[in-house]
Amino acid sequence: MQTLNVNLGTRSYPIHIGAGILPRIGEFLQQAGLRGKVAVVTNPTVAPLYLQSVTDALTGAGYGVIPVLIPDGEEFKTVQSLQIIYDRLIAERLERKSCVLALGGGVVGDMAGFAAATYLRGVPYVQVPTTLLAQVDSSVGGKTGVNHADGKNLIGAFYQPQLVVIDVTMLRTLPRRELVAGLAEVIKYGIIEDAQLFALLEQKIAGLTQLDEALLIDTIATSCAIKARVVEADEREDDYRAVLNFGHTIGHALEAVTGYTEFLHGEAVGVGMAKAAALSARQGFCDGESLRRIVQLIKQAGLPSAIPANVSMTGLIQAMEVDKKAAGGKIKFVMCEGIGKTRFHWLAPQEILSALAG
Ligand SMILES: NC(=O)c1ccc[n+]([C@@H]2O[C@H](COP(=O)([O-])OP(=O)(O)OC[C@H]3O[C@@H](n4cnc5c(N)ncnc54)[C@H](O)[C@@H]3O)[C@@H](O)[C@H]2O)c1
Ligand SMILES: [Zn+2]
Repeated sequence: MQTLNVNLGTRSYPIHIGAGILPRIGEFLQQAGLRGKVAVVTNPTVAPLYLQSVTDALTGAGYGVIPVLIPDGEEFKTVQSLQIIYDRLIAERLERKSCVLALGGGVVGDMAGFAAATYLRGVPYVQVPTTLLAQVDSSVGGKTGVNHADGKNLIGAFYQPQLVVIDVTMLRTLPRRELVAGLAEVIKYGIIEDAQLFALLEQKIAGLTQLDEALLIDTIATSCAIKARVVEADEREDDYRAVLNFGHTIGHALEAVTGYTEFLHGEAVGVGMAKAAALSARQGFCDGESLRRIVQLIKQAGLPSAIPANVSMTGLIQAMEVDKKAAGGKIKFVMCEGIGKTRFHWLAPQEILSALAG
């Protein structure tokens, strides 16, 4: 098992990463000083797979367990689903000292985290991420929230967990398409911060899709360490944390214009990273060889790298303009300067369009 720390003063917390460590969850909660009841928020897909193990481990360590089920799917990442969680916490009289445990992917994690941030003005919460995307990205860093009919993640809070427990054996049940989508964020970390990670992925990406556990533990630990460092530098995304949006300006727009039905988030980010790298090369920030390697790795992972012919370019530009990062008509774009280095650059939508078309 590997343990990392996210260092944020009084809001610091450990991330444990290992294979088969789920049965030790009670021990980890005790080490983190958590007591009382634990509300385990999960969904009908994940519950039959892992709720019993979590419940046994927690009761074995003396915790009372309250299962809270919310519907599965991004379309249920809403205030209505939050209401289900609040109703249950109130009915079970969960106290300030009790805690919320998110058992699921990023949707469960973001919602359980926001419920924990707001119930009784804040109770502790624990992340047990079960998708690769959640293990390398959403469970670390404290962004929590739900969607609104007018946009994604419009309602939320920065609220850090007390503990993150990542068991890579839980990825065995994850559909392959979801696993591959999670790889997009891992590739992103390589491009923005870590040329060594990128080179490792070039050699061993197949080992990750084949669930080589030692490789998964190392890669997830490297990814979480990068995310932790970025969050430590800029917890509330005043500036540098936006580097994590590499590939996301175009990726988010692609998800939006296709109605969130065609692409998984990671798939759209695959396309977005390939296009962001092409734009970086066009603007003279990125060399041709790095661009070639980036596109190659995205394809090798099994992610898409091109915009489907039926997607309208003007639709994409409009979607980018409404993105919350747009200001004064220009978009704060994350450019790569080769592999492992980035810079911000303000661009007019028209300049982005030229790269998209190319
Ligand atoms: N908070 C952050 O910093 C942050 C960062 C990135 C993404 N997000 C959010 O994360 C969400 C996407 O998360 P996601 O990609 O994990 O999707 P998800 O939570 O919808 O999970 C994908 C699917 O896999 C199922 N599943 C989860 N674990 C499984 C397992 N081990 N075995 C079998 N099935 C399993 C889920 O029930 C779901 O059907 C989005 O809402 C996005 O906004 C948040
Ligand atoms: Zn992402």
